[in-house]
Amino acid sequence: MEDKQMEKAVSRKLTLFCVICGVAVLVLMGATVIRDGEREWKHYQTQYREMLLKMIKKENNPTFYQRVEEMKPEIRQIVVDEWKTVDRCTTCHLGIEDPLFANAKQPFTTHPNPELLKQHPVEKFGCTMCHGGQGLATTYYGSSHQPIDNWPITLVAKGLMQSRCGYCHKDFEAIKADRLIKGRELYKEMHCAGCHLIDGQGGNVGPDLSNFADKDPSNFAYENIEGPHSKQTWVMEHFKDPKRVSPGTPMRAYAMNDDQVECLTSYVLSLTQRGFSRPYSTKVKADFVPHRVDALVPEAGLSVDAEDEAGSNQ
Ligand code: HEC
Ligand code: HEC
Ligand code: HEC
Ligand code: HEC
Repeated sequence: MEDKQMEKAVSRKLTLFCVICGVAVLVLMGATVIRDGEREWKHYQTQYREMLLKMIKKENNPTFYQRVEEMKPEIRQIVVDEWKTVDRCTTCHLGIEDPLFANAKQPFTTHPNPELLKQHPVEKFGCTMCHGGQGLATTYYGSSHQPIDNWPITLVAKGLMQSRCGYCHKDFEAIKADRLIKGRELYKEMHCAGCHLIDGQGGNVGPDLSNFADKDPSNFAYENIEGPHSKQTWVMEHFKDPKRVSPGTPMRAYAMNDDQVECLTSYVLSLTQRGFSRPYSTKVKADFVPHRVDALVPEAGLSVDAEDEAGSNQ
């Protein structure tokens, strides 16, 4: 009897000991990860300060020079009211609005499109509204520069950047969004509307695409995806070979080059039902219809592509 109790007491102590060790290891590991993260952005800020000091002359503006000399590493952030979040991208992308950094290396380079930043003031829009990624993160990995499996907020790939313009600008012509215009044109030419709906226009063999941009990445099957498991890769691989990605789908592979695939992907990834409020919403003419039926549906009507039917009859 007593032996049993002793055993129990010992085993309880052992369990407690193991738990304490476990927690200690976790705390140490956590601390290392956090310290590494800090080192990363602090390292960029130190580098930035040194670069800036080389670019400016003390005698031109002694007070500014001294301010830069005394700069302490600090997290920089932009409050994005619309999404009730903050973007910390500028903690590392320190020269983004400074023309002096046009030829500097990343993450210090001036934005390639300063005009665009004037139209969308950085202090209001931040970066993630156009670029995606995780605004709160202060590490390269955490900001999601490279796709992370099943992570919803990967940075938007270079060739797909216009998908984000379409979130807010439904009139693609007004902002000269050539890739969205091209994508919408391909959608029409390839009779996609025979099987898909956008804003109530089209067929219903396939899913309604009206809010395709809002669909969570975890809703896609990635078993047959060759690249990283991100929604943008899924869409592009699906367009290149629907039957490999979604076995049994009636969608067929269309002959498209990579650029066309990117334009079509930008277009479907721009389709959101998310509303934006001022100052993020755009003004459009009262009689403007975003996805006009005549723009989406080819003259031949809503029938499934004739070639496809010929193929399945063989
Ligand atoms: C810890 C520092 C750090 C943070 C925070 C950070 N970046 Fe970067 N970023 C970098 C570095 C370093 C590069 C250059 C990487 C390279 O050349 O491979 C880069 C490159 C980029 C590029 C160029 C394309 C690419 O992927 O190479 C874009 C666009 C970009 N960042 C956007 C963002 C956005 C948007 C955020 C906020 C969500 C952000 N970055 C936050 C360090 C950072
Ligand atoms: C209004 C949308 C918009 C906003 C806001 C915006 N960008 Fe961009 N950014 C773009 C587009 C579009 C490009 C593609 C290049 C071009 O236009 O030439 C780009 C390009 C870049 C590049 C170069 C990418 C490469 O592959 O070389 C970096 C780095 C970058 N942006 C960082 C940022 C950061 C950091 C912020 C926030 C301070 C930001 N951007 C805000 C739209 C935006
Ligand atoms: C979060 C919403 C949002 C995103 C994303 C966005 N814009 Fe805008 N953009 C605006 C707002 C708001 C204005 C101010 C003009 C207005 O009210 O219509 C504007 C203005 C502009 C203008 C000035 C001309 C005009 O119509 O007034 C251009 C050009 C433009 N945007 C292009 C782009 C491009 C290109 C992209 C993608 C790289 C983009 N925008 C992404 C909201 C956005
Ligand atoms: C013959 C009918 C048919 C045609 C034509 C067709 N699709 Fe599909 N599409 C489907 C079906 C069914 C699915 C669902 C199964 C799958 O994942 O392929 C689908 C899936 C999709 C998806 C993923 C939707 C989601 O929510 O998972 C997108 C995006 C898409 N199609 C876009 C297009 C585009 C763009 C075209 C024109 C190039 C097109 N489709 C042509 C039937 C079709």
